[in-house]
Amino acid sequence: MAASGEPGRQWQEEVAAVVVVGSCMTDLVSLTSRLPKTGETIHGHKFFIGFGGKGANQCVQAARLGAKTSMVCKVGKDSFGNDYIENLKQNDITTEFAYQTQDAATGTASIIVNNEVKTLFNPAPAVADLDPRFYTLSDVFCCNETEAEILTGLKVHSPADASRAAQLLKGRGCHVVIVTLGAEGCVTLSETEPTPKHIPTEKVKAVDTTGAGDSFVGALAFYLAYYPNLPLEEMLKRSNSIAAVSVQSAGTQSSYPYKKDLPLDLF
Ligand SMILES: Nc1ncnc2c1ncn2[C@@H]1O[C@H](COP(=O)(O)OP(=O)(O)OP(=O)(O)O)[C@@H](O)[C@H]1O
Ligand SMILES: *[C@@H]1O[C@H](CO)[C@@H](O)[C@H](O)[C@H]1NC(C)=O
Repeated sequence: MAASGEPGRQWQEEVAAVVVVGSCMTDLVSLTSRLPKTGETIHGHKFFIGFGGKGANQCVQAARLGAKTSMVCKVGKDSFGNDYIENLKQNDITTEFAYQTQDAATGTASIIVNNEVKTLFNPAPAVADLDPRFYTLSDVFCCNETEAEILTGLKVHSPADASRAAQLLKGRGCHVVIVTLGAEGCVTLSETEPTPKHIPTEKVKAVDTTGAGDSFVGALAFYLAYYPNLPLEEMLKRSNSIAAVSVQSAGTQSSYPYKKDLPLDLF
């Protein structure tokens, strides 16, 4: 992408190592003591605007770990859209392919691609009749418990359940399957490691787990792009550690750690 024909121009410098195709959403958060009934107006005690959307979350986490990133998305031609593009820039994310449109934002799935065209697919939100090509064409297929359940029809609540679901997904043609399990870490299965493996994570005091999955996927994209020779299991251990940091403070992108605040042995 973005290769320049100008002589002497370092094209490598312009290329993003992690490209995220996905959603950018503005979260309008009202804190209330209860949910309003249909048609009812109630008082809230706090209101704030947050930057969300699974694609952008993943991109922000990868960028904060030091990845050169580009976000491919469409936001509205309005103040929220302008603010979102500014948020991407603040996170050092290239916005060359962040478009603004009059159409409503849709954001259904996020795909992360690096320039060796290694693809990481996160089927969010999941649909039971997912186009089977997503299984075979993505290098890494990463889903959470709910998504694994919808895709396989199996109940997924434990590492053993996740292992069964991963095996079924591998049977559909996935090369590498990862099922994230919240405080239980994740389970992985690959062509080279055909026995499902549970990668537990450290016990932490979770304050707000919102966006933990996107922190995990963003971190994994970072490792795939920048440490391609690291064993998958090690990438997953480190992604677990980064997502564990994100659950220890409130918010989504606001809880994502920067490289400078993380232990050196993660890099
Ligand atoms: N309570 C927790 N303690 C430690 N790590 C956690 C916890 N919750 C989540 N994580 C980490 O985050 C990763 C993703 O979590 P999870 O499986 O809940 O994803 P998710 O359901 O997509 O997240 P969410 O929808 O809340 O953003 C886990 O694999 C784990 O590494
Ligand atoms: C998994 O991700 C979906 C989005 O696809 C989300 O709605 C769901 O709550 C997540 N599941 C868990 C267990 O957090």
